[in-house]
Amino acid sequence: MEVKASAGDITSVSVDAVIVNLFEDVERPEGATGAVDKLLDGMIERLVSVGEIKGKLNEVTLIHTMGKMAAERVLVVGLGKQDKFTYDSVRSSSAAACRTAKKVGARRVATVVHGAGAGGLDLEKGAQALTEGAVLGMYAFRKHMTKDPENGGPDIEELTLMERDESRIPAVRKGILRGRVLAEATNLARDMVNEPGNCMTPADMAETARAVAEDWGLELSVLEREEMEKLGMGALLGVAQGSRQPPKLIKIAYRGGDPDARQLGLIGKGLTFDSGGINLKPSDAMSDMKGDMAGGAAVIAAMRAIGELKPKVNVVGLIPASENLPGGAALKPGDVLKAMNGKTIEVANTDAEGRLILADAICYARDLGLTPLIDVATLTGACHIALGDICSGVFGNDQELVAAIVKAGEDAGEKIWQLPLFEEYKEQNKSEVADVKNTGGRYGGAITAALFLAEFSGDTPWVHLDIAGPFYSQKERGYLGKGATGVAVRTMVNLALAFAGERPE
Ligand code: BES
Ligand code: MN
Ligand code: ZN
Repeated sequence: MEVKASAGDITSVSVDAVIVNLFEDVERPEGATGAVDKLLDGMIERLVSVGEIKGKLNEVTLIHTMGKMAAERVLVVGLGKQDKFTYDSVRSSSAAACRTAKKVGARRVATVVHGAGAGGLDLEKGAQALTEGAVLGMYAFRKHMTKDPENGGPDIEELTLMERDESRIPAVRKGILRGRVLAEATNLARDMVNEPGNCMTPADMAETARAVAEDWGLELSVLEREEMEKLGMGALLGVAQGSRQPPKLIKIAYRGGDPDARQLGLIGKGLTFDSGGINLKPSDAMSDMKGDMAGGAAVIAAMRAIGELKPKVNVVGLIPASENLPGGAALKPGDVLKAMNGKTIEVANTDAEGRLILADAICYARDLGLTPLIDVATLTGACHIALGDICSGVFGNDQELVAAIVKAGEDAGEKIWQLPLFEEYKEQNKSEVADVKNTGGRYGGAITAALFLAEFSGDTPWVHLDIAGPFYSQKERGYLGKGATGVAVRTMVNLALAFAGERPE
């Protein structure tokens, strides 16, 4: 789908469908919707008065124009209550309208920028949100299907954002560009997460990162097992030892800032399949574990968007990638591992593998001098239980950095809620045979996992994002489809833009 801007009037474009909008409880449409309504002899107002159009968020009503307008169809999309209207309402209503347009077979679609009129939104940010919503909402993972689905409809070829005032077109274009880059990167992360474990091994992750690096001029290097051994990455190697797939530590770097300026480190858990290991998961809990590399996918995808947007900042992505499988060579409960920084770890549970591979990646990031550090991981079921499906947990040793990531998430429409790193809970990670153990018991499981990571981040400014809840959506919801969400990609890119002073307010 191509998204473009055009100067002109929505009432006179000759396309398969035009999208206009309506807030809830508005009886008489105004602006572009009012102009379209006039040409339709008051059809929209009529549908409102009989209660068929309510303007509820994401409600879409299809009207055929029967020759009254150049466009074949009008889609009226609800924006919800005006006082609850946000950029995220734009994303989701845009996705809803585009889905309907696709379903009815519209290939050329024109729309106004929802909310840029009566909604009072900034035009550039509105165009960005609308583009994000459209590109994210049209996403489907069909790679492994040999036949097209029934009732699918062809893809929308062209979405044109109409703006009457020519002088406002450059702002619309800027918004479209950023929205497209962010959404396409998010869709790349979704593709990686949706891939089955046999198609997205650690080597496949490294190959995907290599392709991204080649396309966008990023530096790429991959540490292999031998180098990990030399560096003493016993924790990462321990997790990988039960698998026939060799582990990879992927490094992908973007240099847009001063050569001697700080380098932001993004670290993503790349567990390409988490069976639990010898502490095997029950079947139900294993079903989505091909997606346990969602943090790593988000980092690779964020690096792609950063490479494309080119902010003035240095960013290095690190992705420890491994499988976690049982077998004769696998890690056993009770084994003791030594991480790169010399700390010894008792493996109380082989299913708490994410924190093990992250421990070495965090040590490595500190050795490289990266600061601050952001790690992203599908780390604990406990975080999913605590915060549910649509919210990530955040922990950190630097309150300003925590606030920055929460804000970056808000701008992206991604909910992030801070959880505490209370020192008292450190006791739960105490081992009787090693410096620390990799589980802290049932209670406060997301916190003890974060406290484990804190042992390795030390005094480097660091935040940890636990995305175990929102990495996957059980149902279609706004611009999310069923399946991988690509969560944290847009948050991390926003953070990098903010570091470069390039995030619009
Ligand atoms: N990858 C899982 C966490 C997870 C669970 C992510 C559900 C997404 C959805 C992680 O490796 C894990 O197994 N964690 C254990 C830790 C426990 C053994 C201390 C958990 O949360 O049960
Ligand atoms: Mn696990
Ligand atoms: Zn895991």
